[in-house]
Amino acid sequence: MSKRALIIGTSRGLGLGLTQELAARGWTVVATARHLASAMALQQLAARQPSVTLDTADLDAPASLTALQTRLAGQVFDLVFINAGIKGPEHQSVNDTTLAEIGMLMITNAISPVRLAGMLVPQVKAQTGIVAFMTSRMGSVADNTSGGWDLYRASKAALNSLTRSFAVTAIGNRGITVLSVHPGWVRTDMGGAAAPLDVATSVAGIADVLEERAGSHTHAFVDYRGETVPW
Ligand SMILES: NC(=O)c1ccc[n+]([C@@H]2O[C@H](COP(=O)([O-])OP(=O)(O)OC[C@H]3O[C@@H](n4cnc5c(N)ncnc54)[C@H](OP(=O)(O)O)[C@@H]3O)[C@@H](O)[C@H]2O)c1
Repeated sequence: MSKRALIIGTSRGLGLGLTQELAARGWTVVATARHLASAMALQQLAARQPSVTLDTADLDAPASLTALQTRLAGQVFDLVFINAGIKGPEHQSVNDTTLAEIGMLMITNAISPVRLAGMLVPQVKAQTGIVAFMTSRMGSVADNTSGGWDLYRASKAALNSLTRSFAVTAIGNRGITVLSVHPGWVRTDMGGAAAPLDVATSVAGIADVLEERAGSHTHAFVDYRGETVPW
């Protein structure tokens, strides 16, 4: 029987690429976008690939997450991958940021991913299942020797910290593997045109990591090549 994944944030970029990659590897994928009507590339993928079905989820709208949970009741997943994220305000400055900016950045990148994972964890296969979060090497405190992207870094560091708390329970109670995944620096709307990696290379590496790490019952911070990233 094919493996089943739920991927959150698949309208474009890495989420769309990962949906395509897992479907090509024979997985059945439930792929969510917050605005399905405008997610044309995702719609086209689902039209070509019967193993991809579409749903909606907006990380900034708690009611949307509850509604998703209700629609998915009874479904069991080998993988829940929360990919969606934003970079935050262009200024990236603690001096200039507003409550609204930092609130949205933290809710979207750190709070809601872990909240949604907690809601869905009873539907992740015990012992062999994986919950993965798309974080960033920029969330590594140890690796930050250059500064820059200060607010985005803080949001991913917060995601990593909240993920560890989530992992303690998820691993302890259900033997689930928890991954904080750095995709590399990738050419997407967020990564920009100067990034060295294309989406296909990053998501192929991530899919390999997912297949290798299933059943490891740990929380690891790894990149798309499976290499450990320092916390
Ligand atoms: N690209 C890189 O170099 C890089 C490096 C490290 C980490 N990452 C991380 O990788 C993930 C994907 O990034 P990307 O490069 O593919 O970026 P992207 O092209 O900007 O795509 C971001 C995705 O997140 C979705 N999203 C944003 N806010 C959302 C919300 N509130 N609810 C639901 N979905 C939401 C977007 O949906 P809409 O289309 O509706 O906006 C889109 O599908 C992010 O978590 C990012 O931080 C990327």
